[in-house]
Amino acid sequence: MIAQSFIKELLDRADIYEVVNRRVPLQQKGASAWACCPFHNEKSPSFSVNRERGFYHCFGCGEHGNAISFLMKYENLPFVDAVEKLASEFSMQVRYEGGAPKPKSGKPRLSEIMQRAMEFYRDKFNSDKFSQDYLHNRGLKDETIERFGIGFSPDAWHNLDAVFTPDLKPLLLEAGLQRTGQSGNVYDFFRNRLMFPIRNIRGQVIAFSARTMIGEEPKYINTGDTPIFTKGSEVFGLYEARKSIQDKKRVIVVEGQMDVIQLSQAGFGEACAPLGTAIRAEHIERLLKMTDHVIFSFDGDAAGRKAAKRAMDLSLPLLDDAQKVSFVFLPEGEDPDSLVKKSGAPAFEEMLKKALPLSSYLIEALSQGLDLAVLEDRNAFIEEASPLVRKTKSPLLRDGLIERLSTAVGYKNSDELRKYFGFPVLPPAAPQRPSGFGNQRYSFGRGYD
Ligand code: UTP
Ligand code: MN
Repeated sequence: MIAQSFIKELLDRADIYEVVNRRVPLQQKGASAWACCPFHNEKSPSFSVNRERGFYHCFGCGEHGNAISFLMKYENLPFVDAVEKLASEFSMQVRYEGGAPKPKSGKPRLSEIMQRAMEFYRDKFNSDKFSQDYLHNRGLKDETIERFGIGFSPDAWHNLDAVFTPDLKPLLLEAGLQRTGQSGNVYDFFRNRLMFPIRNIRGQVIAFSARTMIGEEPKYINTGDTPIFTKGSEVFGLYEARKSIQDKKRVIVVEGQMDVIQLSQAGFGEACAPLGTAIRAEHIERLLKMTDHVIFSFDGDAAGRKAAKRAMDLSLPLLDDAQKVSFVFLPEGEDPDSLVKKSGAPAFEEMLKKALPLSSYLIEALSQGLDLAVLEDRNAFIEEASPLVRKTKSPLLRDGLIERLSTAVGYKNSDELRKYFGFPVLPPAAPQRPSGFGNQRYSFGRGYD
């Protein structure tokens, strides 16, 4: 139990303005600071923070609370975790009732083990010329290497035995740092590889991805699922990218961790990558909680096109009216890492500017290899578009897509396709539509260009 007296002290010390502003940028107006409410969808700010009185209040949805409840709600944390996190952000030591030591559950212990392992690998990197040369040859600066905490696991089977006391041994297995062989012998899983720590959104090390420097197969090996790591939902680089994503109001999704690191060094701190797997809905969902614009970068080859289609498919049910997804296809044989080294950051920024919006990409991808002047091809095109349109969450995007599809197949208006897809036909044009309504971006039929 956390001591009540400590909670009072914590709330006194923790500046709610700072706590919120770090996550949701605030603007001072009068006695309060304001932002669009992070807990409901809105276009103009009704979420206010009162620094002196230490609380927030949303006049739109009624959410109300202090710094602890903000963290619980915003980061989806249980009470104790929120208190501990807040305390650490304000350099306070949590005090427990009766002075009892902090009760340890399995989870924090595992991330402590991972942290210590990371420090060990980093020390080894600092005395391993081969690894240093490898990364320098790939164009990474020391500062970047440090920022991502890259390390080296020496070529031996029992490195970690010397790092951890025997009582911690079972945890090494649980954390995926060691394995048990057929004869029951326990050995280090990562050997003779560059070690890329994977951090959760709170900055804790939860896994490693490890690259061979001598052409072993597979090129990368990764921590399997553990109590603190689920490969399918974590995004590499998200912790490091957090601030840039907020500043630049976009996230760039690439395929590999070297791409993330190289882009970050080149000034694209907002890059991240799903971990060693194809993109999943969970990944996209996480990203759309942090920003309204997701840019996917894929190889220009067949595999890249297939991955883009998958990303499109998964995004449609998730996108809100104000959100957008776009696609960049790199020249064959290039990845963001090689591209940015070869052509420079401005060239990559140029490609991002020209990224294909989902709506255009959808038409392009579905009409590939078809002749829309031919009835059968047209039907196949509409047939393939149908499930995509139906699963589109945003009504604005959906209406816009139907309009674009109608144009693509040469229909005069969208009525026919609306009926076919099972949506009511829109009322006749001009008179009903107030002129100058809202933002040009949302104007009917031309949205998401
Ligand atoms: P790539 O083979 O494209 O590697 O795999 P890369 O990112 O360009 O790496 P470098 O430049 O050769 O160092 C893309 C991503 O797929 C995962 C890794 O996360 C990698 O970053 N992967 C790849 C694996 O998990 N295992 C592998 O054997 C290969
Ligand atoms: Mn690469």
